[in-house]
Amino acid sequence: MAASPEYPILSEAFFADPYPLLRRLREECPVYYHEPLGAWFLARHDHCEAAVRDRRLVNARARELLSTLMPALRGTGELEAMIGQWSRLLWFLDPPQHTRSRGLVMRGFSAAAIERVRGEVRASVEHALAGVTVGGELDVVWQFADPIALEVLCAIFGLPDEQRSDFRRWTTDIMQVAGAGATDEDPALRAKESSARLFALLAAIVQERRARPGDDMISRFLGDDRDDPAVFEEVTIQCFQMVGAGYVTSRNQIACAVLALLEHPDELARLRATPALLIPAIEELLRFAPSVLTTNRLAAEDLEIGGKQIRKGQLVFPILASANRDPAAYVDPDRLDLARGGRPMTFSVGPHYCPGGPLARLELEEALQALLRFPEWRLVGGFDYRGASLQDRGPSQLRVRLGA
Ligand code: HEM
Repeated sequence: MAASPEYPILSEAFFADPYPLLRRLREECPVYYHEPLGAWFLARHDHCEAAVRDRRLVNARARELLSTLMPALRGTGELEAMIGQWSRLLWFLDPPQHTRSRGLVMRGFSAAAIERVRGEVRASVEHALAGVTVGGELDVVWQFADPIALEVLCAIFGLPDEQRSDFRRWTTDIMQVAGAGATDEDPALRAKESSARLFALLAAIVQERRARPGDDMISRFLGDDRDDPAVFEEVTIQCFQMVGAGYVTSRNQIACAVLALLEHPDELARLRATPALLIPAIEELLRFAPSVLTTNRLAAEDLEIGGKQIRKGQLVFPILASANRDPAAYVDPDRLDLARGGRPMTFSVGPHYCPGGPLARLELEEALQALLRFPEWRLVGGFDYRGASLQDRGPSQLRVRLGA
């Protein structure tokens, strides 16, 4: 049996509050080998930033990552099928294929293209708040952030209304395994099945859009190459990537931002008094309370980071949430200062930085603006971080009374 790790990065206590352990890591062991996972974790801002730009650390790692995260399926046809599909997702590609596929995705996800969906985002926010009255209660996770994140993706990708709950279940199954791993066979098999179903649904939608192009995201991805079968396949694969990467992350990020404000009433009051603070406040909330804690890469050759020898074939996890709290990069990093300015590491940097950043920021802007119409927010009851993972951390629920 593997020894229990000195820095328990995957423990319940870590997900409940990762920051004390991340501080210890930065100070005591910034390049840390986690024995049970057989992977390296990077805690310092400069190491994280260098790693995500380092061409010796590659993204072509679907086999290594999935085998590490789903040991129960190692050597099975199920895992092979999943590896075959996932290897083609943007997040698992390196140049030159990554550059080509990323160009296709950016057709629909530039900041200007995202501004065109502001109406859909606003409508989803208003829809989520429709039944809420002053003095009423709202579970910010399940009655607000979740429907917004889901509805926005369904609207811009044209997913049919009647399949929203399937879509929610499938993406949750997939992201659970992608972020935390599954040592048991059940969740691993569920993730594999959900992955196949979501893929089939998206292929049908892309086929439909190919026959009848419109002013939607998928038609923009297809562009003028819609008759090229290779483009059809590529668009289906990258739509799978986008909806998988964009749902749970956005839900958690809205919830994490609201919670951070609830826990810092002086900053919340400052934001209410100065509405122009909202845009810098979003950057600061992304830094202070990111929903994605890490990204990861595979060492394509032996290399050294911070005096430690990383061997070819080992996985490396830059902890972006730790980079965000590094005093070498941010003054007084444990203080939430909505006027701080600057960019967090939350969406990463370099060739793989998150293309969904403009959409996530737009959702945060519309969601916070609408909630701020209620002059008082009061947390009712408790919450925990059950189900959180390195990829997706957010409160399990967040009941708030919206006062007058
Ligand atoms: C607040 C919510 C989100 C956070 C915190 C987040 C964070 C991240 C991070 C850390 C990465 C890895 C970057 C790297 O490895 O260097 C990433 C990649 C990615 N994200 Fe996001 N993301 C969010 C929302 C979204 C949304 C809404 C979408 C799309 C609808 C999206 C699509 C993607 C894609 C496609 C990639 C892979 C990019 C590539 O490898 O080139 N994300 N995201």
